[in-house]
Amino acid sequence: MRAFIAIDLSGSLRQKLAAHSQKLQSRLPSHAIRWARPEAIHLTLKFLGEVETTRLETVEGILTQVANRWTKFSFLVEGFGCFPNVARPRVIWVGVREASGTLERLQTDVESEMARIGFVSEGRRFHPHLTLGRVRDRASKDQREAISRGLSEIEAVAIGEQTVEAVTLFRSDLRPSGAVYTPLLIAPLGDPG
Ligand code: 2AM
Repeated sequence: MRAFIAIDLSGSLRQKLAAHSQKLQSRLPSHAIRWARPEAIHLTLKFLGEVETTRLETVEGILTQVANRWTKFSFLVEGFGCFPNVARPRVIWVGVREASGTLERLQTDVESEMARIGFVSEGRRFHPHLTLGRVRDRASKDQREAISRGLSEIEAVAIGEQTVEAVTLFRSDLRPSGAVYTPLLIAPLGDPG
C-alpha cells in the first residue's frame, strides 16, 4: 500500500484553512487547480511510497519509538507560496513556521530512522507546508500566469496554530475523485520530564 507519515491537524485549523482556500479559489482561476479537501490536509514529514504489508509492523514499531522521543510543541500556519516557485506554480501551499527547530529535528529523526529500514532519503531540504491545491497538468499558460499573479498579490496572513501531540502513519488510496487518507497508526509524542 501507499503510505506516508504526517502531522494531522485540528478541526479548528481545518476550518480556517477551508476559509482561506475558499478565498484563494475566488481569486485564482479555480478550475485550473485541484483543490485539497480541507479534511485531507496534513503536514507531511515523510512520504514512504509503496510499503509491503509485511513491513508495516516494523514501520509502526519504529514510528512509535521515534514519536516517544519527542514532546508536545506547536507551529504557526501563515502565508501562501508555491512549489517550485511563484513564477512556475505547481503546488500551492500555506507556510508552516516553528521557530525553535523542533519540527525540523523531528522530521530529520523520522527521515533517518526510516532510511535505516530502507526508505530512501529524499535528499532535498525539508520545507514544511500544507498543500491547498495542485495546478492541473492541463492548465494553460494564461491560467498559470494568472495563478502566479494572483498569489503574488495576496498578502501573507496569519492563519492559525497547531499543537502537535502525535505523528500519524497514513495509508493513501488514489481514487479518481482524489486521494483518500486513512490513519493506520497514531503514535503519541512522549511525556515531558
Ligand atoms: P504534498 O502535500 O507536499 O504534495 C501524500 O501523498 C502526501 O505525501 C502528500 O501530502 C505529499 O505532499 C507527500 N509527498 C511527498 N512526496 C511525494 C511523492 N513523491 N509522491 C506523492 N506524494 C508525496
